[in-house]
Amino acid sequence: MAGLRIAPSLLAADFGYLVEAVSAIESEADLLHLDIMDGHFVPNLSFGLPVIASLRRHTELPFDCHLMTTNPDAFLPELAAAGADLVTMHIEAIPDPTEAMKAASSNDLGFGLVISPPTPFSAVAPFMETVNMLLVMSVNPGFGGQSFMSEALPKIEQARIWIESHGLEADIEVDGGISSENIISAKSAGATIFVAGTSVFGAPDPAEAIRGLRRMIEGESWIQE
Ligand code: DX5
Ligand code: ZN
Repeated sequence: MAGLRIAPSLLAADFGYLVEAVSAIESEADLLHLDIMDGHFVPNLSFGLPVIASLRRHTELPFDCHLMTTNPDAFLPELAAAGADLVTMHIEAIPDPTEAMKAASSNDLGFGLVISPPTPFSAVAPFMETVNMLLVMSVNPGFGGQSFMSEALPKIEQARIWIESHGLEADIEVDGGISSENIISAKSAGATIFVAGTSVFGAPDPAEAIRGLRRMIEGESWIQE
């Protein structure tokens, strides 16, 4: 495990000021979470390759690209060329991701699988040995600003037990509604990467919001007044 990491989700930023939004969190974030939506797998559109390529020129943060698309394996070379570092695909969109995992690897992309709230961990268990990350959604994908669904916690626990008992090193990322209210529960369940959109970019000082979340997962915040 490479330590606990915080990945602000750019979906919650003001899209008129994307570079400023990235600059505001760059010194505190570990990854930049980029939500790519096609209006088909999820009922919303966000942004795609040109935006990723443009942002790549302005930051060295690793790009964690969450593909909420019907054909998530369709643009892997293009995503790599645009500057993605890691791609995650929904198992609901690609029930057999074997070829997609190989294609990601041959494009030097890290690879993760995603499970939406209705999908059990068992759907991804057969592939856990070859993924870098499992992303457990704690909201239904498609929109920022939703409330954290605590039903994600037992799935994170189940995944953590599986990973440990099989001697694997995959990270568990949790995405949706993460805030100071629930980040400790997600960590306790076994998550190692915490996506935070609204609780970071909706805060008056996004960098300070990340520092606050980090203090919590590092076990300091409740001591301070
Ligand atoms: C939802 C996205 C999330 C979202 C998180 O489909 O996958 O990454 O941007 O935003 P908050 O933290 O506001 O739930
Ligand atoms: Zn996401």
